[in-house]
Amino acid sequence: MDGKSNPVFSSLSTQELTERYVLGNYGRFPIACESGEGVWITDESGQRYLDFAAGVAVCALGHCPEVMVKALSDQGSRLIHCSNLYQIRKQAELAGFLVENVMKRPGKVFFCNSGTEANEGLIKVARKRSWTKFGPEAGKSTIVTCLHSFHGRTLGGMAATGQDKIKKGFDPMAPGFIHVPYNDPAALRAAVDQHTAAILFEAIQGEGGVHVASPEFFAEAARLRDEFDLLIMYDEIQCGMGRTGDWCGWRGISGGTTPVEPDAVSWAKGIGGGFPMGAFWTADEHASVMGPGSHGSTFGGTPLACAVSLAVLNEIEHSGILANVRRQETRIREAVAQWESPLIQELRGAGLLLGFALDPAQMAKVEGFTESGQTPSIYLVNALRNQVHLLTVPAGEQVVRWLPPLNVTDDEVDDALDRFHTLLSTLFPR
Ligand SMILES: Cc1ncc(COP(=O)(O)O)c(C=O)c1O
Repeated sequence: MDGKSNPVFSSLSTQELTERYVLGNYGRFPIACESGEGVWITDESGQRYLDFAAGVAVCALGHCPEVMVKALSDQGSRLIHCSNLYQIRKQAELAGFLVENVMKRPGKVFFCNSGTEANEGLIKVARKRSWTKFGPEAGKSTIVTCLHSFHGRTLGGMAATGQDKIKKGFDPMAPGFIHVPYNDPAALRAAVDQHTAAILFEAIQGEGGVHVASPEFFAEAARLRDEFDLLIMYDEIQCGMGRTGDWCGWRGISGGTTPVEPDAVSWAKGIGGGFPMGAFWTADEHASVMGPGSHGSTFGGTPLACAVSLAVLNEIEHSGILANVRRQETRIREAVAQWESPLIQELRGAGLLLGFALDPAQMAKVEGFTESGQTPSIYLVNALRNQVHLLTVPAGEQVVRWLPPLNVTDDEVDDALDRFHTLLSTLFPR
C-alpha cells in the first residue's frame, strides 16, 4: 500500500507521516528528498540542493550513478539473495578485491550490513584470537578505544564509542572497553596491559569533530602491539574506501611517514555506494580463529550487495577517482586559505573528509545565532541548506563537515566553495 492508495496517507505531508509512524530517534532536517543525480538532490517541492553530505560519506559516486544502476539491474534480474550456506561468486570476487587492491596484504573478509556490525565483528575477532592463543584464564579481552570516537549504536559499538551522549540511558554498558584521549600516546600506554586484546581507533575521527590521528599515536600503538601481543584495529567506516585519496585512511594521512599497518579493519558506508553493506578484514594469521559457527549474518554478502559494491569499487579504482580526491582537497584548501572569514578557525581532515572548525566567539556575533539556541555547527548547516542550498553535516558542536562524492568535479567544488563563501559573507559582513 503506498501513499496514493490510502487517503489518510495522501492527506499528510512526508514530515507529518514520519512524525506519526516512524520512531523519533533522529533529529531530521525539514526537507524530504525525492530524487538524486550525481552531486544533486531534489526535494519534494522541486528544490535542488548541492549535496556535500552524500548520505554522510555513503554515496561515493554520487546519487544513482550509472554503474550502480546497471549492477542492480543486471544482478537483480539474475540472483538477488542466496544463503551463506552456499558458495557466492560475487562475494568471493569482492573479498578478493578488498584483499588484493585495497589492503594489498593477505587476509580474509567477512560481509555484513552496517558499520556497527562490522565493528562487532572486529571485537569478536580480537577476543577470539586472545582466547585461542592465550587461553580463557589469561583474561586478555579488553579493547582500548578513544574518547570522542564513534563506533556505532549496537551494544558493542556503543560500548566501544567514546561519547557519553550516545550511551546515556542505556546502562549497563557491555564490559571490556577502556577509553583514552585521542592522540595521547602516554594515556594509551597507561591504559594497555596484559589484559588488552586490541586497540581500536579511527585514522580520522569523523563524528567526533574531524580530528586526524597523529604519527606519534600510531607509533605508540605499534610499540604496544610488539610489547603486549595485541591487535591494532582501524575503524575505516567513514575515513576508508577512498575518502582520503587512498583506499586506506591510515595510508592516506601518513604524509611521508611509514604507515602502521593494522591487524584488522572495519568498513561500511562508501563500500556499497548507497547499497547497505559492511565488512571487516583481518590478516590471515588471525582469520583462522573465526571458523565455522563463530560468526554470521543472514543478509551479509548477498549476490546483489556484492555485485553492486564490486561495480562501485571498480569504478573508483579504474576512473582516477582516488587522484581526484587528492586534487579536490588541494583545490578546496587553496580556496579556503583566501577567504579570511573570522568564522572559520581551521580547516581539518584529509581528502574529501573535511571539517570547517567554527570560532564560537565570532559565531556569537552573528545576528540571530544566540537567540536560535543552536550549536554553531547546526546553525551553519541549517543556514547553508536554507540560504544557499548546500547540504553539509555537523561534526560535534563546532564543525561543519564536507563529505562530497569522491568523483565530484572542479565545477561542483567551485560551486560549493562559492555558496559557502557567499553565506559566510552574508552572516558576517566586514
Ligand atoms: C567511524 C564510524 N564507525 C561506525 C559507524 C556506524 O556505522 P553504521 O551507522 O553503518 O552502523 C559510523 C557511522 O557514522 C562511523 O562514522
